[in-house]
Amino acid sequence: MSDKRPSWGSKLGVMLAAAGSAVGLGNMWRFPFSTAQNGGGSFLLIYLICAFSIGLSLVFAEAALGMKVRSDPTDAFGWISPKLRFIGVLCVLTSIVILPYYSVVGGWILAYVFKVFTFSSGEDFNAVFNDFSTATTEPLIYFLLYLTATATIVYFGIQNGIEKFSKVMMPLLLVLLVVLMVRVLMLDKAWDGVVFFFRPDFSKLTGETMLNAMGQVFFSISVGMGIYITYGSYVKKDSVTVCQLMWPVIVLDILVSLLAGLTVFPAVFSFDVPINAGPSLIFITLPQIFVSIPFGRFFGFMFFVILLGAAATSSISLLEVAVTFMCDQLKMTRRAAVVRFSVLCLTIGTLVSMSFGRLSGFTVAGKNLFDQFDFLASNILLPTGGFLTCIAIGWVLGCDKLVVFQNKFLQRCFTLCIKWIAPAAIVLILLKGLNIL
Ligand code: TRP
Repeated sequence: MSDKRPSWGSKLGVMLAAAGSAVGLGNMWRFPFSTAQNGGGSFLLIYLICAFSIGLSLVFAEAALGMKVRSDPTDAFGWISPKLRFIGVLCVLTSIVILPYYSVVGGWILAYVFKVFTFSSGEDFNAVFNDFSTATTEPLIYFLLYLTATATIVYFGIQNGIEKFSKVMMPLLLVLLVVLMVRVLMLDKAWDGVVFFFRPDFSKLTGETMLNAMGQVFFSISVGMGIYITYGSYVKKDSVTVCQLMWPVIVLDILVSLLAGLTVFPAVFSFDVPINAGPSLIFITLPQIFVSIPFGRFFGFMFFVILLGAAATSSISLLEVAVTFMCDQLKMTRRAAVVRFSVLCLTIGTLVSMSFGRLSGFTVAGKNLFDQFDFLASNILLPTGGFLTCIAIGWVLGCDKLVVFQNKFLQRCFTLCIKWIAPAAIVLILLKGLNIL
């Protein structure tokens, strides 16, 4: 709100930072194993439908609100109605749930960037991953390193930290991913993986798989916790429209998910390894492949570097929401906010990291702490945040107060989505997925 508020340096910078938030582990780690576990092509279809309806309209709505109010999510919702400030607080709480476990996986990836070089053929990668992830100290060290790197970038601020980093990382990531995909598609039997990825299995389409697909959209596109309100709040006032800045979010997010699917599945199929391995898919199955193809270790290194870059641009957005809140509402300096929030995440993340080893006995409903956090964030907190955002903007404020498209027809479609389609779909899928309906 004040003139001293930092801002992005260029239009491209906002576009890449916002897309960087969306493109992350959700696309390259979570999407392939969720697709495998939820029926391949039919999951993909629901994912795409949700992405273009709920995802797209929420990205635009959030960003438009942020660009209008130019403050953190609590002020943004408070501007709509003082009673709605709590939605902004929910956004910050959600980042407390996601960032710790996200950074635990980030730490694993960082470890694998180095580990690929020590792999030898014939090694039991299942055992390697299990030994690593269930140990106490080693994953914690990498987690600490990863979180510190994230915090450092955020500490440097919007223009010098987040924007600069995203401008380098995003193009690099796309190029590397395409190179890797082409290499993998040249493997024997790669085509079987492509077929699995695209062929729908409608018998697997249940309330639960639909909830998972919607959860995947929220997680992958980063909607439902005020990321785009926060990023939008740093856009300088000028003639740029929301759509001009935010279209890469959705396009790149879907593109990278598709590229990741077209890399992971063909690789998995050509080596006849189990497809529904869950979160460990990329840590167990892929290394197996990397050690057996020419220059495989190099491609493996490349894969984990891509993953690391994608993860980092997302973690910084998760941290930035909380930091912006602490600066705007609690009047902290950026430095104090970064340090305090990182220490909080460090504490929670330590428990999450240990939930694979020492604390693995601690389960709720058969899920360890890590799975609980993932379920709570993606399937409950983010859809709830998304639903409340739709109600706040569609019903309390009115979509006509936020001009997303200059074109009347598109603006009408946007209104329809935010007012009716997105909230109705969120509620239906939530209730069905939780077996209430
Ligand atoms: N979208 C990111 C991914 O795909 C993760 C992420 C970053 C996120 N910021 C978020 C998810 C905010 C939900 C909300 O990996």
